[in-house]
Amino acid sequence: MLTRKKFPLHADLENVLVTEQAIRRRVKRLGADIAAAYGDSEITVIAIINGAILFTADLLREIPNPIRLDCIRIASYRNDTKSRSQPQLLQSLSLDIGGRHVLLIDDILDTAKTLSLVAKMIGKLNPASLRTCVLLDKRGRREVEFEADFVGFQIPDKFVVGYGLDFAERYRNLPCIGVLKSTLQNPPEWA
Ligand code: XMP
Repeated sequence: MLTRKKFPLHADLENVLVTEQAIRRRVKRLGADIAAAYGDSEITVIAIINGAILFTADLLREIPNPIRLDCIRIASYRNDTKSRSQPQLLQSLSLDIGGRHVLLIDDILDTAKTLSLVAKMIGKLNPASLRTCVLLDKRGRREVEFEADFVGFQIPDKFVVGYGLDFAERYRNLPCIGVLKSTLQNPPEWA
C-alpha cells in the first residue's frame, strides 16, 4: 500500500493556522454558497495567479454551474513579506467579460489594494455583476475599504504560507496554511 509522504516544509512553520481538513470542509461550503448565490447562471471566474491557483482549482469543483475561467497576474509582494506600495498588472484577461456574471477569486485579502484595483479594472469592462471571493481575510490590515462577498477564514495579522500562498515562490504546495517562522522571512540567499 502507498503511504503519503510527509511534507518537510512543515518544519518551517511556527504553527498551523488552518488544517488541510478544515480547508476541504470550508471550500465545500463556499462552493455551495456560491452556487446558491448564482442560481443557474453561468459564472465567469477570474483567478488572481499565482496565489489563487490551488484554492480556485478546488473551489470550482464544488460549483456545478457552467463556468468560464480566466486568470490575471498581479505582483503584490517581492521576495519579502512587505507589501509593494502599488500592485502591478503583469498579465491581463483574455476572455470578454462585458455582460457576464464575474466572480473574482484571490487567495487573501490583506491591505485590499490588489482586489480593489482589479475590481475597479473589471468594473470598467461592464460585467453584468461582479462578486469577490477570498480564502483568507486579514481584516485588521486594511488600507483601502473593501469587503469580499465570500470569505473562507478570518485570520490574524501574521504572514502565512501554504495552499497557494508563497514566500519567494516557495511553500505553495503545503496542503495546510501556516505561519512562517520569523527567522525564515528574510533569508538573503532567497532574495
Ligand atoms: P493586498 O495587501 O493587496 O494583498 O490585499 C493581496 C496579495 O498580497 C499577498 N499576501 C500574502 N501572501 N502570505 C502570502 O503568501 C500573506 O500573509 C499575504 N498577505 C498578502 C497575496 O499574494 C495577495 O494576493
